[in-house]
Amino acid sequence: MKRTAIYLLAIILISGCREKPSPVITGRNITAGHGMVVSAHPEASKAGVSVLQKGGNAIDAAVATEFALSVCYPEAGNIGGGGFMLIRMSDGSSYMIDYREKAPLGASRDMYLDEKGNLKEESSTETHLAAGVPGTVDGMLKVHGKYGRLSFREVIQPAIDLAVKGFAVTEEQAGSFNRNREYFLKMNASLPAFVKDGEWKAGDVLRQPDLAATLERIRDNGRDGFYSGKTAEMIIREMKRGKGIISAMDLAKYEAKFRKPLTGVYRGYRIITIPPPSSGGIILLQLLKMLEPWPLQESGFHSLKAIHLIAEAEKRAFADRAEYAGDPDFIDVHTSILLDQKYLKRRFNDFDPDQATDIKKIKAGLLSGHESDETTHYSVVDKDGNAVSATTTLNNLFGSSIVVEGAGFLLNNQMDDFSVKPGTPNMYGLVGGEANSISPGKRMLSSMTPSIVEKDGKLFLVAGSPGGSTIPTTVFQVITNVIDYKMDIRQAVDTGRFHDQWLPDYIMFEKGSIDSLVLEGLKGMNYDLKERSVIGSVNAIEILPDGKIRAGADRRGYNTACGY
Ligand code: GLY
Repeated sequence: MKRTAIYLLAIILISGCREKPSPVITGRNITAGHGMVVSAHPEASKAGVSVLQKGGNAIDAAVATEFALSVCYPEAGNIGGGGFMLIRMSDGSSYMIDYREKAPLGASRDMYLDEKGNLKEESSTETHLAAGVPGTVDGMLKVHGKYGRLSFREVIQPAIDLAVKGFAVTEEQAGSFNRNREYFLKMNASLPAFVKDGEWKAGDVLRQPDLAATLERIRDNGRDGFYSGKTAEMIIREMKRGKGIISAMDLAKYEAKFRKPLTGVYRGYRIITIPPPSSGGIILLQLLKMLEPWPLQESGFHSLKAIHLIAEAEKRAFADRAEYAGDPDFIDVHTSILLDQKYLKRRFNDFDPDQATDIKKIKAGLLSGHESDETTHYSVVDKDGNAVSATTTLNNLFGSSIVVEGAGFLLNNQMDDFSVKPGTPNMYGLVGGEANSISPGKRMLSSMTPSIVEKDGKLFLVAGSPGGSTIPTTVFQVITNVIDYKMDIRQAVDTGRFHDQWLPDYIMFEKGSIDSLVLEGLKGMNYDLKERSVIGSVNAIEILPDGKIRAGADRRGYNTACGY
């Protein structure tokens, strides 16, 4: 009796002393003590943090966030698309998983061309043929299996709950659903959950029972819950309906792949980023290395000199991308040469401080391919200092707008990221190179640039963005805003941005981001200029000197940080 009483007392004391999880805080620019998730949707960030509070690590939280985004941010979150995830563990080791889609085995170089060799309008964007074999589910299972701490069931459950119970759509989302309504109706045999009687309004609840059932199959059967069995049958049926070519064999053979991250040093900070088949990491490191010899800070933020320097470096990096970048399993990307210090110095030898270089002189290469803006990035840090930087996409907003009937998820239209007609402009006036031409089983080139920065060997920044070809230059600007211009992550993310990608031959800039005298100066140096409402939408994290975790959730969009 006495022993039982002592035992009970001990239990009461122990549970009384056990650290209660700190309350969750939510906002755009919050600072937290233990863990943080920053994503494009408040519900996805909440899902990630709930997993951290259960004792999950950053990888568990990232997988939870990725699946939650597939429910509450169907604009770009997905299980029918793909992406790249970069991991830095607290011991300094770094890893990367490539879950980019692949061309179906029945794909061919000229599949989007007619008998005369002309591009068939919209065939690579608005048809079942536009879909690459989805990679997200295999990517999440593999990365969780290797680095996660909680059970897979625990990390996918928040997404299932969101799909079953529904969530309140944001104002921006209500607008996107309404604007896309005609596409959803045109592309689908039965009404997808995103179409309702009348208009969506902020706060309306979106429930997705078909998607919930698909996620449950993944929870219960792992890979077989998606790449074979009922979900696979639904995908094949959907392909038959729309004359698509993803086969049972494509699904069975899809494998996400661990690859070695790229690394480089910029002004003493170590940059960890993404290798091909994204071009993003190479462009980011090329820009940093080309510009390191130049005192950006002394030139002044968004000064004529600084913009000219950066735009010139961007032209050269994008010209290289067009010529050399593609799937490393199919072509030699020459990454080490492209990042060689001597090569980059030579590349910048013809820089003229007084005027824009004639783009024809930069390189006789081909132009860069187009990637849509509608991608999404999330960043995670856990209480032990493990970090994840992940960017995921369906390509266009809502991908192809085709929902797999009965399975409730959207198919990507990522095939458009290949050079669908090498050497000839696509619908956006851009051309791609042979290195990124279509082959069966090949991954299409990307610009996604999830990145992590170390300071003095410790975790410092986690960042990434959507924005197609503007992604690497956006991430570059966030990093240099912090390192060169001494901004904190909130300012670095929110301040205005510009972008030059060699061709089309102009600098695009956000409205109000560059002083009118500087714009006049740029015109005088032979630059064409194009104003744009926004460039990118960054979700970033900064580790402060006292170890606190600060979020930088971009003002562009509904980005929300959740921390505790
Ligand atoms: N579809 C966007 C990208 O991969 O960069």
